[in-house]
Amino acid sequence: MTVAWQWYPAAIMRPPAVAAAFRSCPDRHGTGSEKWDRWAGRDVLPMWVADMDFSAPEVVLDAVRARVAHGVFGYTHEPPGFRPALAGHLARRHGWQVDPDSIVGVPGVVTALSITARLCSEPDDGIVSCTPIYPPFLTLPGLAGRRSIRVPLVQDKAAWAIDWEAVERAAADPRSTLFWLCHPHNPTGTVFGRADLLRLADLAERYGLAVVSDEIWADLVLDEEAVHVPFASLDHPAARRAITLTAPSKTWNLAGLGCAAAIVPDAALRRRWRAGGGGLVPLVNPLGYAAAEAAWRHGEEWRLDLLALLRRHRALVLERVAAIAGLSCLPWQATYLAWIDCRATGVVDPQAACEAAGLGPSDGRDFGLPGFIRLNTACPTPQLLGALDRLAAAFTHP
Ligand SMILES: Cc1ncc(COP(=O)(O)O)c(C=O)c1O
Repeated sequence: MTVAWQWYPAAIMRPPAVAAAFRSCPDRHGTGSEKWDRWAGRDVLPMWVADMDFSAPEVVLDAVRARVAHGVFGYTHEPPGFRPALAGHLARRHGWQVDPDSIVGVPGVVTALSITARLCSEPDDGIVSCTPIYPPFLTLPGLAGRRSIRVPLVQDKAAWAIDWEAVERAAADPRSTLFWLCHPHNPTGTVFGRADLLRLADLAERYGLAVVSDEIWADLVLDEEAVHVPFASLDHPAARRAITLTAPSKTWNLAGLGCAAAIVPDAALRRRWRAGGGGLVPLVNPLGYAAAEAAWRHGEEWRLDLLALLRRHRALVLERVAAIAGLSCLPWQATYLAWIDCRATGVVDPQAACEAAGLGPSDGRDFGLPGFIRLNTACPTPQLLGALDRLAAAFTHP
């Protein structure tokens, strides 16, 4: 096999183009890591849940250290810099002017999705989303007493795209009241363009759906020519009432600090939102707020270095996957997730085959599409190369 990977394998440990922050990761064993504990005691390389095997940026660590030095950790609402930091970030990065007053701190995007199910729909209503999709989109509606309405994306040679006729059928059902958009999309990495977003906005307006747009991946767009357009930034009535969910946790690897944000334009809904936890939703912790603010204000250089690495990892994965008989993978425009089609291998349970070969990806079944696996590429390059060797072993029959 030819590998057009300029520093593989000779210079792999010290590739000049990889920023120091991404060359290694502290050992995560014994830290309560969801990712690393899943196959504890077995030789299975965990490449599943979407956190990265990198330390958070120094600028974020400094902010957390400063907050720890203060020493008082009482009940905390949004500190004064939090909303302006996010508003500034959205304006700089996405050209979107957001009223800082519309921003509400939440301990997680998944929590926020659950809140929207309870506040913006009635029991037994339908919540529409496009599959395959990040598993909570499929499970949360049922937990809230709503129905999950699943519309499969369609795969052509170049991309995963929305099946508009099917979306319209789902939206036209009078019991459908919410559309949960995953934008950019996990696990396919699709960045929906302005034309798609406007089409969705038209349907939402015509059939009275509220759109909730989960934009947690918006700052990890890898394609130079793809532009993330926040759904709510469209000049459209459906966009003006849309709720946007975001967080610094994917981009700067802060998931364990539990800090996200909802942008809720309607003031009355915001008041209900704050009361909407009904004792179930805790306040965001002060370290999460400190980290989020620092990431949005000072994390750009780190983010750009990360993108450079993730682009190289994407090229590497695509090349290696193409060389394994029966596997295929479309180039993902955003995220650090490879969505790999294993159906042509004839292997009935690809997840089990991977685990038997010492590789721990995510199972496509959890995303609503059996026959696929999702591989997390956000780790030091040597670890990814090891994972790709195990992937080849899983589907290579002697
Ligand atoms: C699309 C999407 N939304 C939400 C989350 C999780 O967000 P949080 O940890 O803030 O609940 C993830 C994590 O992978 C995700 O991919």
